[in-house]
Amino acid sequence: MSQMAKKIRITETALRDAHQSLIATRMTTEEMLPILDKLDKIGYYSLECWGGATYDSCLRFLNEDPWQRLRTIKDHCPNTKLQMLFRGQNMLGYRHYADDCVEYLVQRSIANGIDIIRIFDALNDIKNLQTAIKAANREGGHAQVAISYTTGPVFTDKYYVEYAKRIADAGADSICIKDMAALLTPSKTESLVKAIKSAVPQLPLQIHTHYTSGLASMCLLKGVEAGADGIDTAISPLALGTSHAPTESMVAALQGTKFDTGLDIAQLAEIREYFMTLREKYIKSGLLDPKMLATDAKALIYQVPGGMLSNLLSQLKQAGKEDQLNAVLEEVPRVRKDSGYPPLVTPTSQIVGTQAVFNIIAGERYKMCTNEFKGLVAGEYGTTPMPIDPKFRKKIIGDKKVISGRPADSLEPELDKLRNEIEQWIEQPEDVLSYAQFPKVALDFFEKRRNAKVGINSDKLDKDNMVHPV
Ligand code: CO
Repeated sequence: MSQMAKKIRITETALRDAHQSLIATRMTTEEMLPILDKLDKIGYYSLECWGGATYDSCLRFLNEDPWQRLRTIKDHCPNTKLQMLFRGQNMLGYRHYADDCVEYLVQRSIANGIDIIRIFDALNDIKNLQTAIKAANREGGHAQVAISYTTGPVFTDKYYVEYAKRIADAGADSICIKDMAALLTPSKTESLVKAIKSAVPQLPLQIHTHYTSGLASMCLLKGVEAGADGIDTAISPLALGTSHAPTESMVAALQGTKFDTGLDIAQLAEIREYFMTLREKYIKSGLLDPKMLATDAKALIYQVPGGMLSNLLSQLKQAGKEDQLNAVLEEVPRVRKDSGYPPLVTPTSQIVGTQAVFNIIAGERYKMCTNEFKGLVAGEYGTTPMPIDPKFRKKIIGDKKVISGRPADSLEPELDKLRNEIEQWIEQPEDVLSYAQFPKVALDFFEKRRNAKVGINSDKLDKDNMVHPV
């Protein structure tokens, strides 16, 4: 045999990104429970099941403790590596947190069952990843660092190779190409994978791309042939559209080749059957809009991730300016250029998108600026891929100090202070992390949790008259 067989790793995203992409992260733990034991027997390389928007969604919409969800999944999936998505210094929230918070979130995640932490930074600023990578190394977790993939003048294979080298130097255990906006094409995937694998051959390389533009399975196949070691997929009822390539199809495509995944399609059919019932339920309830499942090659023109498009539309609706969507989409690349070409992923997608909406609604560029946009221009989120024109910066932030080092260096430790603030609500050590990231939402949740335990229906109580047990 001229070439060695290589088993391709499959990461199943059904429990995290697939439902985050298709149904705004609303899958409940109860809906996951009946299929967990079977998922554990498939032989997936990993199950992406936590982090990203799931933490916020558990607390905000589902009235669930995200930590309890993680422990439940771990109980039922002892044989498969559990994986989470982590926004570096932004953790699972939307701002920069102090190092003690980041370290504690990594530690508690691993202690509660996470094996692989996929860490990324929206600006591809390695300084924002160092604390999380080191913490994962220290806790015995696998630090997979994701490159936020985007397009634009600076984003050549060379740019990504330089970043991949820095990622390796920072202590990553593997690398992921994270194409959140479905901008990869098969030929770009091939050249990028080859470039990264030859520069950093010692680290496994995973590909994460979305189906939005209809190219995902071709990209994954090209990527595998070019040397990628693993791919992200979603079981077919939760695949395609804004989600990922179907697991079964990719397994079939690689079966019998030297890249065989080793997964059994008949066994996957049982998983499919279960998620098909969920899919039908979501369509019936309106949670899954069939529009999300359609291929939309316009993604390649707009270059915005699927979730961002729906956010822009809802912001415009609120302002009664729905008809301005095209103007906003044309404004997005302009705002990106002005702000140093940030890749568009949480939180930069929201920051750039909202600023583009403001520019259009106000009828004048940068007449109104959000604090977050000012923060981005001032370096509060890290170093942008391209330098920001000093004249533009001055226009947006005046003489405000620009942060050029690591933004978290200016943050005081915050855990103790936060613990004190919610002392009366703490029922588990992890509660402080819920409060750190989503203060108001977490307090509402803590209150509901306590009321539920003592059997009080909170809807019927006048909250001002409530006595909080200490
Ligand atoms: Co994704």
